[in-house]
Amino acid sequence: MADTNASTATVAAEAPPELLRVRIAKLRMEAEDIRGLELTTENGAPLPAFKAGAHIDIGVILPGKERAMRSYSIASPPSEQPFTYHLVIQYEEHGTGGSIFLHERLKQGYILEITQPKNFFEIKDAEHSILVAGGVGIAPILAMAHELAEGQKSFELHYTAHSPQRMAMKTQVEAFGPTAKITFGRDPKNGGIDLRTILSQPKPGTQVYVCGPHGMIDEVHALAHQFGWADGTVHSEVFKKPDPRPGDGPVDVVIRSTGQVIQVPAKASILDTILAAGVKQDYDCRVGTCGTCSVQVLEGTPDHRDNVLLDSERASNRMCTCVSRSKTPRLVLDL
Ligand code: FES
Repeated sequence: MADTNASTATVAAEAPPELLRVRIAKLRMEAEDIRGLELTTENGAPLPAFKAGAHIDIGVILPGKERAMRSYSIASPPSEQPFTYHLVIQYEEHGTGGSIFLHERLKQGYILEITQPKNFFEIKDAEHSILVAGGVGIAPILAMAHELAEGQKSFELHYTAHSPQRMAMKTQVEAFGPTAKITFGRDPKNGGIDLRTILSQPKPGTQVYVCGPHGMIDEVHALAHQFGWADGTVHSEVFKKPDPRPGDGPVDVVIRSTGQVIQVPAKASILDTILAAGVKQDYDCRVGTCGTCSVQVLEGTPDHRDNVLLDSERASNRMCTCVSRSKTPRLVLDL
């Protein structure tokens, strides 16, 4: 990230070739604790095309000057020639510092480094789509609504936030008219979003997409399971690992091909630990969304924490090593 104004300090080194340099064309508060960024190219040329559900990673500087990448979904209407990427960024006081950098260190005109758009959350062809968003989870859901509306596809959009003051992009959502239902809070008795009713009638040909806080996503998956939605019809995306759970313990991971036994501490991920031990395994999102790190478990019982594997894949004992843990003290992985 660099400030293009020569009178202010440069805050980023030259971009590595795989990163794009983009300018902050607009910077504003979208809602309480939520900042909106509109990114453009430096020379006014179009940005790389994307489909609804895509995100980019942005280079940030964490406290202590450590550089890192943080993922944000693109809320803009998808386009073959997008001239802006519109993002919304929630201020997270107790996060790792990426959002604090993006809230406190940026000014209009600054240059950021970003990746090309990636997409693990694409819309499937369906007779009807149910879109559910909580908080800044509205970003990919809004892009989906644009894409579906443009394709004249049937959909409904349910959007909730804590309060009107904390609801970003309300006007853009309201523009979809009665297709979009806005609520505040999670308690249907007090006018909050009624996930139970939204999901109570599974229909063949309908797909469900949810983005928002972990608790809301978990509730959508649990209700979909309860009401009998078919395997693979409910899709979600998060950019943070799920929190550790009480009782999470260490696990011995055995690598089948070498016989190597790797002790994974209670607070470390299986993926990070086996990579550090020199095991080769593919990965991408590292938060349980893309499925790239999934592997066959030959012995032991995984404790699934991902949002991507189908029930049938779980039943056949595959697991995502980036977030899932083990119900048994030992797992043998087919690596
Ligand atoms: S790396 Fe994406 S699910 Fe594990």
